[in-house]
Amino acid sequence: MKVLVIGPGGREHAIVRALLADPYVSEVHAAPGNAGIAEIAPTHSIDANDPAAVTALARGLDVDLVVVGPEAPLAAGVADPLRAAGIPVFGPGKEAARLEGSKAFAKQVMAAANVPTAMAHVAADVQEAAEALDRFGAPYVVKDDGLAAGKGVVVTEDRGAALAHARSCFDAGGQVVIEEYLDGPEVSLFVISDGRHAVPLVPAQDFKRIFDGDQGPNTGGMGAYTPLEWLPAGFVDEVMERVALPTIREMARRGTPFVGVLYCGLAITSRGVRVIEFNARFGDPETQVVLARLKTPLGGLLLAAAKGELDEAEQLHWAKDAAVAVVVAAENYPGTPRTGDLIGGLEQANALPNVHVIHAGTRLEDGKVVSAGGRVLAVVALGEDLAEARERAYAGVGLIELEGAQYRTDIALKASRGQVGIPAPRGAAPASAGKE
Ligand code: AMP
Ligand code: GLY
Repeated sequence: MKVLVIGPGGREHAIVRALLADPYVSEVHAAPGNAGIAEIAPTHSIDANDPAAVTALARGLDVDLVVVGPEAPLAAGVADPLRAAGIPVFGPGKEAARLEGSKAFAKQVMAAANVPTAMAHVAADVQEAAEALDRFGAPYVVKDDGLAAGKGVVVTEDRGAALAHARSCFDAGGQVVIEEYLDGPEVSLFVISDGRHAVPLVPAQDFKRIFDGDQGPNTGGMGAYTPLEWLPAGFVDEVMERVALPTIREMARRGTPFVGVLYCGLAITSRGVRVIEFNARFGDPETQVVLARLKTPLGGLLLAAAKGELDEAEQLHWAKDAAVAVVVAAENYPGTPRTGDLIGGLEQANALPNVHVIHAGTRLEDGKVVSAGGRVLAVVALGEDLAEARERAYAGVGLIELEGAQYRTDIALKASRGQVGIPAPRGAAPASAGKE
C-alpha cells in the first residue's frame, strides 16, 4: 500500500515513522513534511491547505490512502475532493472538521448528543462576555471561537485579563465562548472512527502550558506521556459510551459522518468526565507517545477507517512500555518564535537506546537542519515505566543543541511518582468516582 501523509509537523513525522514500520505499507510520501520526515520519506512541497493541489498530488502518486495530519487542511476541506475522487482518505470532510474549527458548533453537537461538557455561553460582544464571566465566576475561561493552534484560550483568576482576551477576539472579528471552569487533570483520548464504528487508542496526557508547574501561557503542547495508570478503571469504556459514540452517531445523523480521529480532550472533574474540546485530528505531541506504543500496523487501521471497514479491523495491540515525549521549543515560543538556528546533537540523541527524535519545526538549509517553527522537535523515549522513559527522554534532550531552546523539566514527573490526583466527587459517594 502507498500512503501520502499531509502536514509539516511532529505528529506527521510520528505518523510517517509508524507507517514505514507497517509491513503492508510499501511507500510513504509526505507533503510538505519537514527535515526529519525528508530523511525517511520523499517529500513534496505543495500548499497542504489547497484541496486541488493535494488531490492532484495524490492522483499523480497513485496512492491507496491519504492521511491528513493537521487541522488547517481539514478545515480547508482537503478531504472532500479526495473522497469524491474515490481516494480513501483518513480525515474528516470540511463540515465534520467543524467539530474542531468552531467551538460553538462543537457545543451544539454535544448538546444534541447529550455529551457532558463545560457549561458555555457564546458571546457576540463585550457586554455579553462580561455578563457570562460574572455568571460563571472565577477562574474565568475565555476561548476564541475559531482555530487558534491551542493558543486562543485564556484561563485566569483575573477578570480584567479575561475581558481583555474577549475584547481582542472581538477586535479580530470573531466571537468568544465563555465557559465554566473544569477542575481536575486532563486526558487526551484519540478515537479512530470510520463514520459509524469507532476504536479507541490508549489515553495520553499533554502539558499545555509553556513553563514547569503548569505556569505561563498555553501552547500547542510541551510534552506527553502514556500510560495513565492513575485513571479510574473503565475510563475508556465510559468515554466511548458517553462521549465518542454519541458524537459519531450525531455527526452521521446530520449527514456529515466523521471519518478520522476524534480527539477527545477531557477533564476528570469532581462531577465526572467532561469534554474540554474536540479536535478533528491526532494530537501533537500525544501522537508521538501513543504511536510509539502501538504494535498493530498503523496503515491497515487507518485504511480500514477510511473505507468504512473498522468493524473488520483486528484488535489493537500495545507495548507494555511507558512512553514520554519532551518538546524542545524555540526561544520566545508561544509568541513569535526565533527561527533559522542550527540544531546540533540530533544523531547523538537518536543513538541513545530506546530514544528517537521527532522533528516538528525544522527544515534543511544547505544540508543542515535548522529551526523553522515554535515547537522545534520532541525527544521520545520508551522505558519499562514512566521514570525510566523520562530519564531516557531527558538524556536525549540534554544532547540537543539549539540557541535559546526552551523545554519543560517536569513532563510525566507527577505521574511517575503516583502524584496525579483526581478531585473527590462532589455530592456523590466515592464508589461513583468518575460517574455523574
Ligand atoms: P482548548 O483549546 O479548548 O483545548 O483549551 C486549551 C486548554 O485550556 C485546555 O487544554 C485546558 O488546559 C484549558 N481549558 C480549556 N477549557 C477549560 C475549562 N472549561 N476549564 C479549565 N481549563 C480549560
Ligand atoms: N496537544 C494538543 C493538541 O494537539 O491539540
